[in-house]
Amino acid sequence: MIFRQLFDQVSSTYSYLLASRRGGEALIIDPVLEKVDRYLQLVRELDLKLVKAVDTHLHADHITGLGALRDKTHCITVMGEQTKADVVSMRLADNDRLTIEGLSLDVIYTPGHTDDSYSFAMADRVFTGDTLLIRGTGRTDFQNGDPRAQFESLFGRLLKLPDSTLVYPAHDYKGDTVSTIGEERAYNPRLQVKSVEEYADLMNNLKLADPKMMDVAVPANMHVGLNQDEIAHRGWAVTAEQALRLVGQPDVMLIDLREDTERARYGVILGSLHVPYPSLHESVSVGGMLHELAKLPHKRLLFYCAFGERSAMAVQEARDAGLNSAYHIQGGINAWKKASGPLAH
Ligand code: FE2
Repeated sequence: MIFRQLFDQVSSTYSYLLASRRGGEALIIDPVLEKVDRYLQLVRELDLKLVKAVDTHLHADHITGLGALRDKTHCITVMGEQTKADVVSMRLADNDRLTIEGLSLDVIYTPGHTDDSYSFAMADRVFTGDTLLIRGTGRTDFQNGDPRAQFESLFGRLLKLPDSTLVYPAHDYKGDTVSTIGEERAYNPRLQVKSVEEYADLMNNLKLADPKMMDVAVPANMHVGLNQDEIAHRGWAVTAEQALRLVGQPDVMLIDLREDTERARYGVILGSLHVPYPSLHESVSVGGMLHELAKLPHKRLLFYCAFGERSAMAVQEARDAGLNSAYHIQGGINAWKKASGPLAH
């Protein structure tokens, strides 16, 4: 496995680059905007293809690199389903799996620091965001934080992992880089409490100043900007209501870009072809399936995904490959459902 722990000195943030092999797919956890060029240089040097950029939660102390990485690599941007960030193109829930080629991480909902905090576990390590820090825990006094929820996330979830599990947090302010679950259980001062009340008391009396960047970072991270607006402006989008009238017409080919887990959970539009977003490039290139399909007379390709972000990128990619009959459903399955569009399970 390829594993890199990267540090941003300004916000003391750790970001993590993961891949199963050289030449393979990669994902990055908690990227920082100012470091995006450094990440991309490393991705090139290691001959990787960045396919997913993930935030453990909405950060208050730095601006996320998700938007810039999406714009530069067309990767999928990922957060938990509670997120209020607009940039997110794939939303995960508790017990889902976060996957790339050769790697699979268990998705653990660990609210408390914020209500959108997630951890990601592999066999030997866990990425804990700001839920569990080295000899600390993330503050719970803003962004819908809740010390009682955090107590449950810590004692009910993370501390149930094997003692030898390596702990990789989103921050460290003292220069520590890694710990283990066993070590934190024994020596983390915040975890030496006897009850949820004692933990809530401790957390409610920390009297911390707001992070320096908070007033800038929180709104910036919520409104990174959508791909969809530009695609709609070019006339390459249809609304869910328009899509309802197009479905079933012989010249319209619906293409679902989501992953199997999303299709199983939310359902599919009947009659659609499944082309997962990571395989799109190959499919729209010369000799690919969609490239051939688009050659048929009058055939229109209508992409969709969960919220319209991946499909907006797909339309651009298809048109760049010369497929001038590519459109997408604005707002994705989310909008389709609101328009009472039928879904098959
Ligand atoms: Fe945080």
